Amino acid sequence: MTDFLWLAADIAREAGDMLLAKRTARPEAIETKSSRTDVVTALDRASEELIRQRVRAERPHDAFLGEEEGETAGAETGEGRVRWIVDPIDGTVNFMYGLPDWAVSIAVEVDGEVVAGVVNVPPRGELYAAAKGGGAELLREGVAAERLRCTAGVPLAEALIATGFGYLPERRAVQAEVLTRVLPVVRDIRRGGSCAVDLCSVAAGRVDGYYERGPQIWDFAAGGLIAVEAGARIGGLNGRPQSRKLTLCAAPGLFQDLHDLLVPLNPERDL
Ligand code: IPD
Ligand code: CA
Ligand code: CA
Ligand code: CA
Repeated sequence: MTDFLWLAADIAREAGDMLLAKRTARPEAIETKSSRTDVVTALDRASEELIRQRVRAERPHDAFLGEEEGETAGAETGEGRVRWIVDPIDGTVNFMYGLPDWAVSIAVEVDGEVVAGVVNVPPRGELYAAAKGGGAELLREGVAAERLRCTAGVPLAEALIATGFGYLPERRAVQAEVLTRVLPVVRDIRRGGSCAVDLCSVAAGRVDGYYERGPQIWDFAAGGLIAVEAGARIGGLNGRPQSRKLTLCAAPGLFQDLHDLLVPLNPERDL
């Protein structure tokens, strides 16, 4: 593991422990953002603050982008331009309802390229980690690290596909429409509630593929590297990189099949 990965894992563990310790039976939404369904709890903010402070203390020159407080500029150093990309709780709705798929997601980018990614899923005691070129691992306390490999050679008709829905009603209407065309031609669909966990599930072979309109860089930066290091391909439609428009991830063959199914459905449009 690289130094960045060690530090990211350490900080993601600390934030996860804090969240588990402070989570109440039904955390309240303190604010809504883009729509009534787009909620923030006090612990989303506390987690980001903890992560920012830890990064600032260890790496004062690095840039930082977090979902809740936005971007803080950094300075160029001998290592290049380093930026931390953080989702302090990915899966806030699961977190509120006591469902286990929520995560602390931390990626480290150097000169625009993600070189380390950690997704800590505290309720499951699972920490997914990858360094660029070094493969992806699942770490569990008391268990030997497990090398991750995505599934391979799965035809679309036998593929279990994860997806997610954005918070804007007009976007959800399009997502629902696209889903009516995807669902009949795959094994089944899962809506887990955390993009970062969905991507780690691709890496671990717990689902075969994932697609979503609307995830942001803090949702997919760490999980995307983990999936790629486990053999998956990540990208957008028509050769574009993964983005808010569309993020698609699967083993290369299934990626192409899912891509070709999605293109004519135009999932990137809004109403
Ligand atoms: C959300 C989750 C969800 C996805 C949404 C994201 P948040 O992140 O990743 O699975 O469908 O697009 O916004 O708001 O819980 O951090
Ligand atoms: Ca959010
Ligand atoms: Ca998120
Ligand atoms: Ca979040």
